[in-house]
Amino acid sequence: MSRVTISAIKADVGGYVGHGDVHPDMLVEAQRQLEQAVLGELLMDGRVGVCGDDINFVLTHDHGVDSAAVHGWAWETFESLTEVAKRLHLYGAGQDLLADAFSGNIRGAGPGVAELEIEERPSEPFVVFAADKTEPGAWNLPLYKIFCDPFNTPGLIIDLKMHAGFALEVHDLMENRVALFECPEDLYELLVYIGTTGRFVIKNVFRRDNLDEPVAAASTSRLSLIAGRYVGKDDPIMIVRAQSGLPAVGEVLEPFAFPHLVAGWMRGSHNGPLMPCSMSASQPARFDGPPRVVGMGFQLADGKLVGPRDLLGNASFDRARRMALAAADYIRRMGPFEPGRLPMEDMEYTTLPAVEARLVERWRTLEPAGAPS
Ligand code: F6R
Ligand code: MG
Ligand code: MG
Repeated sequence: MSRVTISAIKADVGGYVGHGDVHPDMLVEAQRQLEQAVLGELLMDGRVGVCGDDINFVLTHDHGVDSAAVHGWAWETFESLTEVAKRLHLYGAGQDLLADAFSGNIRGAGPGVAELEIEERPSEPFVVFAADKTEPGAWNLPLYKIFCDPFNTPGLIIDLKMHAGFALEVHDLMENRVALFECPEDLYELLVYIGTTGRFVIKNVFRRDNLDEPVAAASTSRLSLIAGRYVGKDDPIMIVRAQSGLPAVGEVLEPFAFPHLVAGWMRGSHNGPLMPCSMSASQPARFDGPPRVVGMGFQLADGKLVGPRDLLGNASFDRARRMALAAADYIRRMGPFEPGRLPMEDMEYTTLPAVEARLVERWRTLEPAGAPS
């Protein structure tokens, strides 16, 4: 057994066509960079993946989490992909590279990062989920179901190795603070926070009987908070380990049979169902969406990646896709009204300040009720 770090890093550095897909030339360049990094022994292994207009890398290495070398490689690779996007005049070339120059850690700079440093088990199955047209809080509901809900994960009751439960680390994206919730005891307190998906996000999950052992990690950046203005979706990525004392692969996938509503559809300003998609058909189409998720299944073999297997493309998720389309029809009919449209403070685009400035004279202050006339 040896220690290995799994890094899942994603960014949108140019869309084809509009905010729809990653161009094949970008994938060729990404694969070329990856092979060089493996040959040069920076990485043990890596895979290039796609979800909508986001390109993602699943990397294995022995540099630990937040490694300047690995994050620096990812940053430079996204820069060279941006060059390809610029050459082809793809849409929004370089949109997620917010910092002018790499400063040692890719976190907070734009690209989404989820990382786990683990002791590789004799057999190490894990799933990387990537979503497009949504935000990090989209993982709250599935992570809750996977690690806290026995109606989803019967192993919490009938597998003694899971009986102690899991500890979930929640980040408050507004106040920049963090808290650990030990479940099942802290379930109600946890739910008080993580139902507010635009602000509180589950970042890490640990085994409670060994708080040093991470079992899931999610990206948490919100590009709009980093940049202070709209710059693109915060399309999230996460890694979930599975089996032998952890939720089974089927328990990890089960939440995605229900296409729950998430924020981020069309102009980052609408709610929509999170539709499970196959890895080969994750391109948004209708109304720039609906929000979508792909599941890439891997086994580790001495740090080498075996996979990915396309987990959500399976026919078992066909009904969820149909349900998502029915939900999309329903919520689209709300047009510019909440809750189809997001609450004002969560919208990525708004014309309110400009309209307010123009109509400031039109609004009259009402006298308080009962005041003498
Ligand atoms: C981007 C997204 C899209 C865009 C929309 C308008 O990920 O979700 O819905 O917000 O296509 O894009 P711009 O303002 O770039 O024309
Ligand atoms: Mg885009
Ligand atoms: Mg995207």
